This record gives sequence, structure tokens and C-alpha cells, in this order.
Amino acid sequence: MKRASILATFLLPAALAAASGRLIPVSTLNTMLLLEADSVSAPYILYYGPSVEGDLSQVSLSAPEGERIGAYPVFGNYPEGESALSLTMPDGNMTLELRPAGQPESAVNNDGNTLVSIPLADKHYPVAVTLNYLAYPKEDVIETWVDITNNGKKPVTLTRFESGMLPFRSTDAWLASLYGTWANEGRVNNERLTPGMKVIQNKDGVRNSHTAHAEVMISLDGKPSETSGRVIGAALLYGGNYRLRVNTDDHGRHQFFAGIHPEESAYRLMPGETFTTPRLALTFSDTGLGEASRNFHRWGRQYHVAHGTEVNPILLNSWEGVYFNIDEPKMAQMMQDIADMGGELFVMDDGWFGRRDDDSSSLGDWEVDTRKLPNGIKGLTDEARKRGVKFGIWVEPEMTNSNSELYRKHPDWVLKAANRDIVEGRGGTQLVLDLSNPQVQDFMFNMVDTLLANNPEIAYVKWDANAPVMQYGSQYLPADRQSELSIRFHRGFRSVMDRLREKHPDVIIQACASGGGRANYGVLDHFDEFWVSDNTDAFQRLGAQWGLSYFFPAVAMGSHISAVPNHTTFRVVPLKFRCDVAMTGRLGMEIQPRDMSQADRDFCKAAIEAYKGIRETVQLGDLYRLVSPFDNRGVVSLMYVNAPKDQAVYYWFRTNNDYSAPLVTRTPMQGLDPDAYYKVTELNAIDLKPLPYEGQVFSGKFLMDNGLEMRPNHDLEWGKKVDYCSRVLLLERQRLTPPYNEGSNCR
Ligand code: DGJ
Repeated sequence: MKRASILATFLLPAALAAASGRLIPVSTLNTMLLLEADSVSAPYILYYGPSVEGDLSQVSLSAPEGERIGAYPVFGNYPEGESALSLTMPDGNMTLELRPAGQPESAVNNDGNTLVSIPLADKHYPVAVTLNYLAYPKEDVIETWVDITNNGKKPVTLTRFESGMLPFRSTDAWLASLYGTWANEGRVNNERLTPGMKVIQNKDGVRNSHTAHAEVMISLDGKPSETSGRVIGAALLYGGNYRLRVNTDDHGRHQFFAGIHPEESAYRLMPGETFTTPRLALTFSDTGLGEASRNFHRWGRQYHVAHGTEVNPILLNSWEGVYFNIDEPKMAQMMQDIADMGGELFVMDDGWFGRRDDDSSSLGDWEVDTRKLPNGIKGLTDEARKRGVKFGIWVEPEMTNSNSELYRKHPDWVLKAANRDIVEGRGGTQLVLDLSNPQVQDFMFNMVDTLLANNPEIAYVKWDANAPVMQYGSQYLPADRQSELSIRFHRGFRSVMDRLREKHPDVIIQACASGGGRANYGVLDHFDEFWVSDNTDAFQRLGAQWGLSYFFPAVAMGSHISAVPNHTTFRVVPLKFRCDVAMTGRLGMEIQPRDMSQADRDFCKAAIEAYKGIRETVQLGDLYRLVSPFDNRGVVSLMYVNAPKDQAVYYWFRTNNDYSAPLVTRTPMQGLDPDAYYKVTELNAIDLKPLPYEGQVFSGKFLMDNGLEMRPNHDLEWGKKVDYCSRVLLLERQRLTPPYNEGSNCR
């Protein structure tokens, strides 16, 4: 598990500031964050941008001459400014004054990543704050977080505790963020930063990536571009409530803050206790959004997505195929069908336990419903083994229903405020368990642990969470800790996941939360992937997956072929288009194969076979976004290139069938080796006659200068023509010597 690297031991501590004369560079291969420390004040941030060679004394991008910006502003002196940390001392003093409390230290861990720690302490009170900056040289990512320690004898109350602050200067800065809702996840919003405060926040309590996302891209040189301009990418690694904010003044100075949402979350820091904030990951690109995304993808796969450097299997999930209508023969039939189509895993979704015939009961009663599954889970794993596919199962461990044995036995285990009636959600009865309660944590751990231990052939868990915190109150926490509920809920969740991962390191776990409610690096170190959306309409998925690709790699995005009319939009998208879209992520199926024609099943079988040949490039390669669905150009195009640039996959989707729409039928490709030669093969081809360049070889330079002309309609028999068109081109490096038929496709 790569998440182990977070815990990796750091070697070689060394005093820093002395060696580099008060300037503290935090460096990656191509970027640098420059801090300045002196002996009397808390450190300043001077710069974040491309690496600077030589004399650093003139480097200052963050502020005009003579102005220094505190690296981690605290509340107290000059309270009109924005601060990242605010607390109340035991005597009621609400100010902090931080001073150096020792030499900054630097240490390299066994992955070659460097941690710089800057110890600070209040001038008078026994409160210590350590600023941490962890540089990932190869990925060009820097994580920052703080540790706040109460060294006194009485509790201190934290009222704001952000992970970090980054200043930047630009008179034409643009913020790209993701917004949406259930079934409309991952929409991209681009807006110019104007004077005042822009806030992005989430207060759902459980799911945190429907309406907003804890990640942003900030373009410093005007409107965002995929290939040019300076871009700062930021991702907060936190699965709970968060707040990101940019404060912009009238002179193009901005301060970006990110952290746990402080509202209603005052935290009593006990004597001797340290509060560690979640990490904020930063990346910098001077060649546009694309590079910033690729940095996040590389860093994510390597360090913050469970098994992120391994490809994920091709699966069939039962949800849209049968919903709650589960029984053993149907499950066995679906296993056989996915096996026949070349898939590798079958996942049984909701409906297998308690008396769960709809969404109004049984969460928490994790006993197999023997009416539906007389031979239990073992019967299913036996069936899966016989058919040569692996088996996966759905759970929703953080939840219960008022109509459940669990709730009847432990009504005190659900979130509920004193003297209030419970507030119920999905199905009219859903309740959220109180994860701040260690007994509840044990129950959750034991439930999943027992399921996996008793059924060692379970290879995959779809972990769902379908309700927000509906009433703010814990029946476990004492009166003076109620305001810590959000924070303690997520600590409890992480603690359960830590224990489960310790015991079951190899199981693949999908983070699902009412569709795409848990697309967040604060949970992905425990999870192998996330469910992008319950909206599986391929057309809509182009937008959702595009938006999420700003921050998350394709290996983490479950992308399934589903039935038409689509169960959310009722749109009827042809199977080829659905397959092509699913092939841009971790391909799977979400359908009852028995309802498909033999021809459609054959098509899917061939698509799965083709996907196996490209999935390493798609899931683990570099993404280049070419034409955005959010630019409304009637076309969406993207490509993946593997690390040695031996294989690439180019995608082109027509999204507008209006004759008046000028289509982008030719887009220069990106990311190829200009000196290499690539053979072109269309995948999932349906046209009567092949594309004119099928099987031909082109130089990487030609493809990146010119691209290839897309035939914008499928060449099909009359009566079989469809109003959609999509192309998937496989590009394979040729080892032969030129000359080739270069330029034959040049217009
Ligand atoms: C919500 C998920 O997003 C769906 O995929 C499905 O698992 C249902 N829950 C099951 O209740």
C-alpha cells in the first residue's frame, strides 16, 4: 500500500535556516516554495513557482517590495486581516503571537521526499505550532499542514484551524472549481477572482464532493488554458466538512486558505494534546492546467490512492441491472454473463441483507437474507469461482434505518441532539451512526472485518454512504464536546478504515456516497477508486469525468456501461458511444446483460478485450485534455499516453448533432514522442469502411502538429445510422525505421 509512505520514517534531520541564511526553499524537481525565517517573527512566504537557480534573495512573487506575508497568519494583532488559526486561551485571551521556537528542520524520508518543519510557539502562552511542508520532488507536489499543541495545564479552545495559506499575486487570476449535485457531479466552474472573498465549502457531514469539491485550480495569467499559463493546483486531503477561500484585494493580491470547516466546530485542545490539521497539497505548472492535473495524478497514484499504481479490474455491478431485486440465480447469471464478456469481477450491490427489499429498512442488520440467498455469501463466491470471476459486495457501514434490529437495540448509536426527535433520510428511515462513539467504530470494523474474514474470496467492497448528517448532535459526546462532532466523526471513520486496511490490505474498496459524494484525497488513501456518479448517461459522464480529471487519475474513476434509456436522464445513447466513454476511465458495466441483445453483448465483449490492451495506459498513463465539454464546441476530445510514450489512446466524441454547429474534427494531439512513429488503429470500429488512415503510421510530431481528421458520422447502412459519433484510436510506437507515409493525412 502506498499510503504507508505517509507514515514513512524521516531520516537525516538537519538544521535548515542556518545553512541557507534564513531563506528556506522547499523544492521539487521543477518548483519551489520559498519561505523566510528570522529569529524574532513567524516565517514569511516569499514565492511559489518554477524552481529558481542561484541567488534567491531577489525572489519575491507573493508581495510587492517591502511587504512580507506571514506563512500562517494567526488571529490577534491586526485582526482585520484574514487568519488561518484562531483560538481562545484558558484566560479568555483570543490573540496569538507566534515566534520561532527552535531551528527549522529538514528530513528526507525513504521515498526521497523532504519534510521541512518550522517550530513556532506563542510569545507568552504554552501553545506551540509547527508548520510542515513535505515536498514530493518527482511529482512536483508540496503538502502543507500544521500541528497545534497545548503545552499548558488547561484546555485551549480552537475556533479556526486551517491547513495552510498560500499568497499569490495576479491582476487576472481565475479560479476553476467543481460544483454540482447528486447525478450532476464534477461540473467545472471558471471565474475571475475579483476583490472580496470567494468561498468554496461543504457542510454535508458525510459526503463532501457533490455540491462542491475540496480542490481548485488557480490560473495566474488570465483565463485557464490546458497548455499555457501559470497554474497553482490545490487539494485538501479531508473527507469531512471543509472550507476553501480566496481573499482578493484591489491590487491583485490574493490569499488562499484551506482547511476543516470551522463553523460549529470549536475544538477543546486538552493539556498535552496535539491537533494535526489535514494536509493541503499544492502543485504548480507553468504550462497550464494539463500539467497541474498530471502532477496530481502521478502524486495521487503513487501516494494517495490505495493500490494506485495497479490497474483496477473490469467489473459488472448489479445495481442498475436488478436494483434491490437480488437472488442467487440472478447473481449467478450475471456472473456468467460478465465472465462470458471477458470481465473479471462481479459486484452484488444493495439488497442482500436483513429484509432489504427497498431503501426503507435493514441497514445495520448485516445478515444475509436467506430468502434471496439460501447459500449465503459462500454460495456466491463458489459460483464466482466456478465462472472464473472474482466477487465483490456492497455495504453501507456508517448508516442504519429506524426500521432495523440494530436501531431497535442501540437507539443511542445514531446521531441525534438532546431533546430532539430523530431526523430520517433516504427511504424515510435512514439514520447516520455516531462514529465519534468508539463502540460504533468497533461495530463497523467488526461487521466489515467479519464479512471479509468469513468470506476470504471477497475481492472488492463497494462502500456506500447515502445520507448527510441530518441533525447535529451526538448521544455519546459530553455537552462540552458536542461542537467536535464533525471532526470526531471523521476521525472515527479514518480510524475504522485504518484498522480495516491493516487487516485487509489487498481488498479493492470503492468509495461511493450517493454516487460521487466521496471523490476526495482525504479518503482515497484507504480506497482504490470512487463511483463518479449515479448518472451513468455516457453523454453526461463526459462532463463529470472531465471535471474530476482535473484532480483525480482515471484509475480511480469507476466508469460503467449502462442500459438505455438511461435510468437518470432517459437519454438513449448508442452502445458504441457508451463503451467508448466507459473506456476513458476504469471500465465496468452497470446493466442486466440478459436484457441485452446477443449483438450488443458481442460488442461489449470485443470492447472489453480492446480495453484490456489499453487499460494500463488509460488508468496509469498521462492524461491530455484536448477539447472540453464545458466549452460547448460540439466535440469532446482527450488522450492518454503511457510513460515510455509507446502507446497512446485518443478519444473523440461528437456531442452536438446540429448541422449549424462547426465541429472540431481535427485536434493536434499532445504528449507523444515527436521523434517516434505511431501506427493508428481504430478501436470499437463500426463503420462499413475503415478510416482513411487505419493501419497507417505517422510521426509523433505530425500527430502533435496536425492531429488526424475525424470522420464526424459513422458510415453505416441506411436505417442503422445514429445521431452520435465517437472514435477511439490506438496509437502504437513502431520500432521500424522510417520513411513512412508521413503527411498522407495532412490537409
Ligand atoms: C447509491 C449508489 O450510488 C448506487 O450506486 C447504489 O449502490 C445505491 N446507493 C444502492 O442503494
